[in-house]
Amino acid sequence: MARSNDEQTLREQICDVGKRLYQREMGAANDGNISVRLDDERLLCSPTAVSKGFMTPEMICVIDNDGEPVAGETNRPSSEIKMHLHVYRHRPDVNAVVHAHPLYATVHAICGKPLTQQVMPESTILLGEVPIAPYGTPSTMDLPNSTTAYLARYDALLLENHGALSYGADLNNAHFKMEALDYYAKVVYLASQYGGAQEFSQAEVDKLIELRRTRFKLPGRHPFVDGE
Ligand code: 13P
Repeated sequence: MARSNDEQTLREQICDVGKRLYQREMGAANDGNISVRLDDERLLCSPTAVSKGFMTPEMICVIDNDGEPVAGETNRPSSEIKMHLHVYRHRPDVNAVVHAHPLYATVHAICGKPLTQQVMPESTILLGEVPIAPYGTPSTMDLPNSTTAYLARYDALLLENHGALSYGADLNNAHFKMEALDYYAKVVYLASQYGGAQEFSQAEVDKLIELRRTRFKLPGRHPFVDGE
């Protein structure tokens, strides 16, 4: 079947995001996976067991809402596709999901340190806090099930002893949350080596959250904003 321009663009975007994840130390070797909604019945996702830094549009896999390759698809979908589908099922506003192992975020996830400090306007406005979903064996339902309690309030999670997960209205949005999450983790870690970060007062945090709402009008959920 001929591909629409939209599908080709999304395939290329998945490859670009894969390249950026790989080049920015957010996944060694074959780590990480990316998916995006193509239409109501189909999604595009990265193939399993290839380096996400070297994908080409032909390698992207078309799957249905149950994660099964559509008729004629010969590429094999990511082993973590259950986790992606779990996010789409719980968050109808989400159209793209990124899973990666960013270095500093993964160190936090391994050491049991959620990101809770309010130290920079960008991370407070975009993410607020990033909790750690309990460990679940990769590729099984244990992993997606461990995220359920967090999906309604957060757009980015640490995965205990594993890595991180982000999602959003489009691929760029989901990917930028992964970058922002790792930058936040890096800053918090480096600050801890340098005597500890100075944190915002609650009044300052409130002002930033108000900016998120009135000026930036960001899509998605935020733990400090009720009902988003
Ligand atoms: P896939 O190559 O199957 O997507 O797996 C990579 C990974 O990071 C598993 O957690």
